[in-house]
Amino acid sequence: MPLLFRRLAPIALFSLLAALGFACTADLEEGCLGGQCVPPGSPPIPPLPTSGAGGGGGGDAGPTCDDTPATGDFPCDVFAVLQTHCHGCHQSPPLSGAPYSLLTYEDTRELHGVTTKPRFVRMAEVVESGFMPLMATIPEADKQLLLDWLSTCGLPAPDGMGCE
Ligand code: HEC
Repeated sequence: MPLLFRRLAPIALFSLLAALGFACTADLEEGCLGGQCVPPGSPPIPPLPTSGAGGGGGGDAGPTCDDTPATGDFPCDVFAVLQTHCHGCHQSPPLSGAPYSLLTYEDTRELHGVTTKPRFVRMAEVVESGFMPLMATIPEADKQLLLDWLSTCGLPAPDGMGCE
């Protein structure tokens, strides 16, 4: 019974969000990942195939991301995780059906598809849910490092300390 509920709850939640017309009621409302609404009339972003944490995530409200730079260098530890777990497909040009490159810092600041959502916000969602890395596992420490960075706006490393 509880198991069945766990399986159905995400579907119910998604239907509810769909019924609300994708108003700004989504999970990642908090902190810098919040406030990224899908503009009216744009195609909806499909639900994630896996629904790992099934909700909020993040917890404490971080800074807002309005003023984060669009250029810069990845912090070295973040780059190492991306290189090991993501760049195999998110190359330039992308391989294995990946939608875009995540090789450069600038890549992560581009918009996810036709939405107002930057790629780095979507990265947090798919890594948290376990959808990415596709068909692979990522060690908990690496996953946490990536999510910590993403949830604090994915700021670039200070000048001269980057790793790109
Ligand atoms: C084995 C190849 C592969 C690896 C490794 C991989 N991806 Fe992907 N990624 C894909 C493919 C293929 C898609 C398109 C999936 C789809 O649309 O169903 C995708 C889609 C995405 C998307 C867009 C999701 C969406 O909603 O459309 C993001 C963001 C993403 N990947 C981030 C990452 C991150 C971050 C990593 C590393 C932690 C990673 N990926 C590792 C192949 C990969």
